[in-house]
Amino acid sequence: MNVTPTDATLGAVVTEVNLANLTDDLWESIHANFLEYGVLIFPGQHLSEQAQGQFALRFGNAEKMHPQQPGPSVQLSNQKANGEMVDPEDQGYRLLKGNEGWHTDSTYMPLAAKAGMLAALVVPPENGETEFADMRAAWDELDDDTQKKLEGFSAYHSLYYSQSRDGFNHTTDHSYGLHVKGAPLRPIVKTHPETGRKSIYTGRHAYGIPGMSPQASETLLSDLLDNACQPPRTYKHTWCIGDIAVWDNRCVMHRARPYDTNQPRILRASRISGEPESELAPTFADHRASDFRPSSNNEFSLSS
Ligand SMILES: [Fe+2]
Repeated sequence: MNVTPTDATLGAVVTEVNLANLTDDLWESIHANFLEYGVLIFPGQHLSEQAQGQFALRFGNAEKMHPQQPGPSVQLSNQKANGEMVDPEDQGYRLLKGNEGWHTDSTYMPLAAKAGMLAALVVPPENGETEFADMRAAWDELDDDTQKKLEGFSAYHSLYYSQSRDGFNHTTDHSYGLHVKGAPLRPIVKTHPETGRKSIYTGRHAYGIPGMSPQASETLLSDLLDNACQPPRTYKHTWCIGDIAVWDNRCVMHRARPYDTNQPRILRASRISGEPESELAPTFADHRASDFRPSSNNEFSLSS
């Protein structure tokens, strides 16, 4: 196995390994590199859905991203099964657009994700990359006073909040992430449960720092995010079909980059649940979650 770090503070490209046929020794090595680099890219793996699921389950338990999800993975696609492109008014399409903002996966759920994995099945001829940002390095970069101030802050996380901030009127439909369990309250600084390193733990879903006005809170959170997600702490991966990317969601943020949505882009996503000891947060009422309307046309999570 060959591991080549990127030029950024996170990320490494891993070659000369077959993820479909992994020994325990190789897995141990991959896991150690995952903790060190935060993001691992495995070019040209072309894993089957089953093989991707098996690799994902090495990291922990699969998070169910959709009620009808049969296995550890779902497809994130802007194209329907019949070949038509997804309507921009569709809630699933809006979720894909929302993912173009820097975020941490599942922080709006009571149990946030430990890791995320994507496989490229169909990629547009240009653009549509996935970009990652190193929140450990971003934390290390802050001066002592700022670190001390941030250690006392928490923020609520809500997908309803992040989508509405992007101009999408979001309704509860009990599909992906649209639960009605309320908004988790999470500390802004996270200590990694395995490495002990501290990182900034926010993203587009974070809002409403208790003790601050909504405006002051929004300014602080967006300034924090803007300053954190800058070179050399960012790595942008240009997809080739068959690539696998896996990232440590406990210390890495990510976003999709825009592309021509008339071109199909299909990624197979697996998400690994966090541990209750370190990723479970108390939840509080989220008034945006009360508007329940069943969805008849959600194309977001087609896995078959
Ligand atoms: Fe994501």
